Amino acid sequence: MIDAATATEPTTTARGLRITGAATATPTALPRARSRRPLPRGLTAGLFGVGAALPEREIDNQHFADRLDTSDEWIVRRTGIRTRRWLAEGEPLAPLAAEACVAALADAGRSADEVDHVIVTTITPDRVTPGLAPEVARLIGAHGASAVDVNAACAGFLYGLDQAAALVETGRARVVLVCGAEALSRLTDTEDRGTAVLFGDGAGAVVVAAGELDRGVARFVLGCDPEQGDLLYADNEDRKLRMEGREVYRHAVARMTEATTQALEASGLGVDDLDLFVAHQANSRIIESAANELGVPHEKLAINVDRVANTSSASIPLALAQAERDGLLQPGATVALAAFGAGFVWGAGIVSWKERQYVCA
Ligand code: ACO
Repeated sequence: MIDAATATEPTTTARGLRITGAATATPTALPRARSRRPLPRGLTAGLFGVGAALPEREIDNQHFADRLDTSDEWIVRRTGIRTRRWLAEGEPLAPLAAEACVAALADAGRSADEVDHVIVTTITPDRVTPGLAPEVARLIGAHGASAVDVNAACAGFLYGLDQAAALVETGRARVVLVCGAEALSRLTDTEDRGTAVLFGDGAGAVVVAAGELDRGVARFVLGCDPEQGDLLYADNEDRKLRMEGREVYRHAVARMTEATTQALEASGLGVDDLDLFVAHQANSRIIESAANELGVPHEKLAINVDRVANTSSASIPLALAQAERDGLLQPGATVALAAFGAGFVWGAGIVSWKERQYVCA
């Protein structure tokens, strides 16, 4: 543990990450105690900043066409994926996650020192233990923060967001970082054309804090169906993702559609009230099928699976960051989020995007 007062001046890593000196600080004292005062009444958890980070190494479809019985044409037509990024052999994931968190904090105008709690959602931590979150907290200089990993596969980010909102709204935390960070290349069987082409690495993060908001992060609809666990898994021995693609596809469309409908109902909204639908980016056909069933028009879909492939729990924050860059997300936008993954686990929720400036000190 590191005393913030001993941290050195910020340094910049090879990836351009600004680290506030935690790595070289002398561990002399416990982190200072965090305030757990309840929030003033009327404050709601909201999203105030977003950040994204991708590995340098790009793997296009031709990479697989050169090695397997597949083609760029098949991959684009059946999945919508054109390219993806993979970490280099032996490259750790934590600095990528930290880069996304630093960007999200800068976007929110908050400092790492203000972060009470770091949630990293991942199925691919750098080590079995400790998890990724404590290392991310160290790298960004969140000296007083608590930190935990959440594993809910591709739905992990929504589970993490739900937990962050609950912590903020009960006054147990004021500022929470939620970061989806994945290195699915580590779980990819590069000999299996049915799965090799699907996965990518990346990290995306949001800052959750309290504001005087109309909607903020509304309650999420979360679910799981453990009876279907054998349709999509990676086990300890094999450590490769295995799945029944068609069945996963069918369940993904049904559960994301159902959960989004329930989330809209719970928020008293109709589909016409949505400005954007951000679904887990596994396959553009899955996203379009769910949107068709919900009645969401194509121009209100966030799609970046073409550029990053399936990045599991990183996919929703990466898609949010991309949508904002593309001008699809304005402050106050009403956004439906939906995800589905191994377990099966799924979730959906309605959030307002950067609804107001952060108001709670
Ligand atoms: N190139 C060429 N042909 C291929 C490839 C490939 N890369 N992969 C499969 N095929 C073949 C199959 O062998 C099959 O051939 P056959 O008809 O001779 O048997 C044919 O294409 C059709 O196969 P399907 O599996 O029916 O193809 P489908 O249209 O369903 O697409 C896909 C497959 C892309 C995997 C799709 O089912 C899918 O996206 N499923 C969901 C994946 C998903 O959401 N995963 C998320 C979980 S990841 C996580 O939780 C971490």
